[in-house]
Amino acid sequence: MRAAWMHNTHTLCLISCLLLYTQAVSVHLEQTSVTAPVQGSALFSVSVSGSATVRWSFSSAQLQQLPVAVWILGGAANVSQMYEGRVQTHLNGSLTLTRLRLQDSGYYRLTVTEENGGSRDTGLMLSVREVLYEDTRFLLVFVLVLGTLAALLMLCVWLLNKLHSFITARRNSRCLPEHETELQPL
Ligand SMILES: *[C@@H]1O[C@H](CO)[C@@H](O)[C@H](O)[C@H]1NC(C)=O
Ligand SMILES: *[C@@H]1O[C@H](CO)[C@@H](O)[C@H](O)[C@H]1NC(C)=O
Repeated sequence: MRAAWMHNTHTLCLISCLLLYTQAVSVHLEQTSVTAPVQGSALFSVSVSGSATVRWSFSSAQLQQLPVAVWILGGAANVSQMYEGRVQTHLNGSLTLTRLRLQDSGYYRLTVTEENGGSRDTGLMLSVREVLYEDTRFLLVFVLVLGTLAALLMLCVWLLNKLHSFITARRNSRCLPEHETELQPL
């Protein structure tokens, strides 16, 4: 009876130890692709729990893998010189890349290394797009403002022209008799 109970607790202990071991670090990536505009920012959202080292690296079609940032969860991040000032790291292992350029498009690999040496790989695609829509909207506003200004200017010219002809008509009607008296001797 006692032996069976002991055996059961042992099994329970083993199972919970196994569960603890396998759940030591969990990595949950929110999206596998992110699209963001030039000059904008992109959040590579991930939730890493447990104590681990988080390593983000970038690979595009032309480049070999390039380190972006490395940090131990809860510690200070080591950001590559190329990305200095453009990277924010978060406590959950996420990374924000700001002031995006077209060349930033590509694959971002995340390697999570556990304390016991085991590691897990995941990653996502970033597409940086040009801001064409905002360009056309800007152009539209520009054309609208220019058109309104032109219409106002035309109205002003028309009004001035009217005023001018009104004044000359009045002056002429006053000056005409004098001219006639001057012209008469000739
Ligand atoms: C990770 O943290 C960042 C910043 O606090 C947050 O914006 C993001 O949603 C988090 N991601 C997940 C998957 O929890
Ligand atoms: C940061 O990274 C650079 C290059 O990857 C390395 O030489 C340096 O030792 C690292 N610093 C720390 C504090 O990890």
